[in-house]
Amino acid sequence: MKKIEAFIQPEQFEKVKRELFAAEVHKMSVSQVRGCGQQRGYTESYRGQVVTINLLPKIKIEIAVNDNFVKPTVEAIIRGARTGQIGDGKIFIMDLPECIRVRTGETGSLAIG
Ligand SMILES: Nc1ncnc2c1ncn2[C@@H]1O[C@H](COP(=O)(O)OP(=O)(O)OP(=O)(O)O)[C@@H](O)[C@H]1O
Ligand SMILES: [Mg+2]
Repeated sequence: MKKIEAFIQPEQFEKVKRELFAAEVHKMSVSQVRGCGQQRGYTESYRGQVVTINLLPKIKIEIAVNDNFVKPTVEAIIRGARTGQIGDGKIFIMDLPECIRVRTGETGSLAIG
């Protein structure tokens, strides 16, 4: 199992969601976050407090999948998110050792799918 985390531009989210649904990926968690990539946010001190500026709104999508769904999921995110501009986003893929469905106690592949 893998955990996929994608940071994308908010205005691309509806398109990414459509592509994910078309790829039969229906389970996801979505949150509004702020972030920066290689163009860099930065911090500075303001009246004694360290403040971070230049962090732009992004959408974070978290999806846990069985291994055979990694490629279609990543491809769907890219199809929906890519405009060719800086800030199009980034995708992280992590090993996921376990998943448990609370209602049934199912674990692993049974619980994730
Ligand atoms: N190394 C990282 N660690 C954590 N979050 C990151 C990292 N890189 C990017 N992100 C998140 O992904 C968002 C989108 O990144 P972004 O697309 O700007 O990447 P980039 O490396 O700057 O590429 P580009 O040059 O295409 O803009 C960032 O705003 C941030 O939320
Ligand atoms: Mg960037």
